[in-house]
Formats: sequence, C-alpha cells, structure tokens
Amino acid sequence: MSCNSNVHSAISPSHIAIRGGTVVNADHQFRADVLCRDGRIVAVGEQIEVPAGAAIIDAGGQYVMPGGIDPHTHMQLPFMGTVTADDFYSGTAAALAGGTTSIIDFVIPAPQQSLLEAFHIWRGWAEKSAADYSFHVAVTWWSDSVAAEMETLVRQHGVNSFKHFMAYKNAIMADDSVLISSFARALELGAMPTVHAENGELVHLLQQQLLAQGMRAPAAHPLSRPPQVEAEAAGRAIAIANVLQTPLYIVHVSCAESLAAIARARAAGQRVYGEVLAGHLLIDDSVYANPDFAGAAAHVMSPPFRPAEHQQALWKGLRSGDLHTTATDHCTFCAGQKAMGRSDFTKIPNGCGGVEERMSVIWDAGVGSGWLTPSEFVAITSANAARIFNIYPRKGSVSVGADADLVVWDPLASRTLSAATQHSLGDFNVFEGRTVQGLPSHTISRGKLVFERGELRAERGAGRYVRRPPFAPQKQILQAPGKHDKQGSKQK
Ligand code: URP
Ligand code: ZN
Ligand code: ZN
Ligand code: ZN
Repeated sequence: MSCNSNVHSAISPSHIAIRGGTVVNADHQFRADVLCRDGRIVAVGEQIEVPAGAAIIDAGGQYVMPGGIDPHTHMQLPFMGTVTADDFYSGTAAALAGGTTSIIDFVIPAPQQSLLEAFHIWRGWAEKSAADYSFHVAVTWWSDSVAAEMETLVRQHGVNSFKHFMAYKNAIMADDSVLISSFARALELGAMPTVHAENGELVHLLQQQLLAQGMRAPAAHPLSRPPQVEAEAAGRAIAIANVLQTPLYIVHVSCAESLAAIARARAAGQRVYGEVLAGHLLIDDSVYANPDFAGAAAHVMSPPFRPAEHQQALWKGLRSGDLHTTATDHCTFCAGQKAMGRSDFTKIPNGCGGVEERMSVIWDAGVGSGWLTPSEFVAITSANAARIFNIYPRKGSVSVGADADLVVWDPLASRTLSAATQHSLGDFNVFEGRTVQGLPSHTISRGKLVFERGELRAERGAGRYVRRPPFAPQKQILQAPGKHDKQGSKQK
C-alpha cells in the first residue's frame, strides 16, 4: 500500500525509441515507431532512425497511446475538516503507475479568500508532483476583486477554466448570482466555466430531514442526493450558459437525467461538455447497503453511486459523444477520516480514489467488451480533455512536437485491483477485487521512463505546471446563422 515501496529514480537517457507497436490517436491508429528526445516526440513513422545510446522499448503486440489526462483530481485537498490522504507526489505517482501522465486539479479558495493567494498556495503544494499538472480555479464568492483576479489568472498564470460548486451549502457553494457573474466574466476572458451540478439547497434540506428521521448511516447519503437534485442543477447551469452564450463543462455527470439535459442542449446547438467518472461507470448504489460502516463510508462521494441503469446510460453517452471525458475525482480519505461521520453521514468526508485504475477499468469494460474502439478510448481518456482545456496537441496526441507523455498498453496483461497493491496512500480501493485485462506496460512522462512492468520510478518534483492558454474571445451571438432579414425576423 505504501507509495514508496517500489519507487526508484526515473531512467532518463535523452532518447527513447518505442518500436513495433500500434500508435493509437483519437482519429486513427497505425503501425509506427515513436522516438522521443529531451521530453518531446521527435519522430513517428516506420523505420525511424534510432540514435546510438537510445533506450529501446519493444512494443510488439501493444498499443502506443497518449498518456492519460485525468481532468478532475483533488490531491492534498483540505476538505470537510481534514486533508486528503494523497498529496501531489503520491497521487501523481499512482497516476503514472496507471498510465495517466497529466492531472488537472482544483484550486479551491475559501469564500472571501483571494483567488491568487489560493492559486499560489496550491502551486507550492504541487511542486512535489511526479507528473505534469494544471489547475482549474474555483469561484466560491463574488466581488470586483474576484473578476480582476480571474483576469490575472487567465493572462498571467495559464488558467483557462473556472469551477463552480452548486452544492456544499455553507461552505463553497456558488449561488446563481455568483454563477452568472462568473460565467459572464469567463466568456470575456476566453475561459471555460465548469460546474459540480447538484442543488445544494435541496441537498441540505434532504440531509436535515433524513437526520430528523434518525437516518444517520451512510445509507442515507444517496437519499440526500437523488438524480433529480443533480439534474435540476445541470439544467440550471445549462440554461444560464445558454442565456449568456458561454460554453459549459459539467463535471462528474452521474445520472441519466443530467446526461439527457446535456444531450438536449447539444442537439439545440449549445456547447456543453460532459465528464463521467470511472467509478460512476462501474459501481452501483448497492455499496451503501453495506452494514459495515467503513465499507459503506468509503464509497461516500458526491454525486453518489447510482442504480445500475444509470451506468448503462453513461456508457451510451460516451459512445454517442454527449459525454466527452473520463476522470476520477480522485479524493482519497482513509478509514479514520471517514469515521468523522460515524454518527452523522453528512460529516463523512466526501471522496473516493481511482487515479491509478481509471485507464485500465475503462479499457477493460469499454474496449475489452467491444463497446468502444481504441481510438474512442484515447478520445475519452486524453484527447478530448486536451482539446476542451486547450492543450491539444501538445497533450493527448502521439505526434511530432507533442510532449513525450506516452503509455505503452498491453491489451493482454491482466491483474486484480486491490488496496493492498495500489500506489495511492488511501487505504481503500473502490475497484477492490476487480480483475482487469489491459494495463500499461510502460509509462513515459516528459520523455522519461517512469513505469516499467510493475516497477514505478516516479520522481518527486519531476512534474511541471502546464499553462493552458485562453480560447479566442467569442462574440456574443444570440442567433444562429440562417435566413434572417436585417431586423432579425425570419424571412418567409
Ligand atoms: O465527493 C466528492 N466528489 N469529493 C470531492 C469534491 C467534489 O465534489 O468534487
Ligand atoms: Zn501570481
Ligand atoms: Zn464535485
Ligand atoms: Zn471533485
């Protein structure tokens, strides 16, 4: 379980050649060798010249894919009275072991705290990262100074996405007035508004009602956050984005109702993007019926795990293109921390792990079953996140000039997932006992071989902060092009 047990320093010859594999990008796959030099991909093709002294990886029978991007993690997060078990080193080391080479984490300023102050605190914590990292910044309150700091973050600090928690009342919840001000500001700055969609007022009310009825165990957690509570918030955020003509990215879409709202908005021409968590795709709400407090509490996260029919809807959303990215919301708390809510489920720190398992569980259930193609897998595990957050093709692509963040994927390798063998410092694995087929044999991060057939060589501090440039300023266009006269009324 310890992250340090098999960590050695990364092998770093200046060149690495990956030979004999099938390169998989989001648009196509092809037979090619890949040469990396000084952290970049410098050649992709057949029979490339390999310089003397280069390290050579034999990828015969394997896929060579962009390293995963997990666009939703919380390392070292102070939350609900405690701090997550994984810091930026252990969490990114676990990510590398699973084939994920970049994370986008969250700076979450307390209400009234300066966004820039919080940003610099998180940047300091993240210096120990073993993999590349970037930050969404949460807008938890509003004032002119917040609007000004958003601009500084975009223009000077490479932040192009702002997060809004529509839940967590009396803590970090953003009400409609904050959402509207912040979405409008994001549009001016060329940044992407994102939301955690749950109606925090309804959650709070339902929690109080459940507690008043004596329902204090983890089984009450999903009852306090039913799908309608998520769908209402998703629909509201979509409506606000529609009026303001901003794009919108909805994190951890967990239920069919929210997905339907996204599909409707997209069909009506809105730029709405949906993220789904590996856990929501594969774990159902039966976990909350566990009479053992620790087992049930370990699954307390928000939104909660849902009845199985929602999982089917989410898999369909990934294939239809109404869901775009897969993430983990990696936010680990150990049993002692979860015990803070032993007599009151609302005090259980919300969050689960998964950063190490995401790629393999989605490959196994998605590609292994035939539901997704390898290229679709690349789209939903790296390329789409890179596009949506404006770092493509530097990330999310096996192409000349891209960062040498690669995973050599062995489709035949299998293992049984367990907390006993994970690299995360969490003491629980939500995928415990699941046997997956399809695993990374090698992970290359910035041109360094950091994981090789079970041996992790993550290097503390080797990860770099990834700046994400703003999108081009968008005109506020309230009407679609078409046959209109000058007054804007439809021609007969
Ligand atoms: O339960 C969760 N998801 N914890 C992390 C914070 C958040 O809502 O993403
Ligand atoms: Zn600064
Ligand atoms: Zn959330
Ligand atoms: Zn989260």
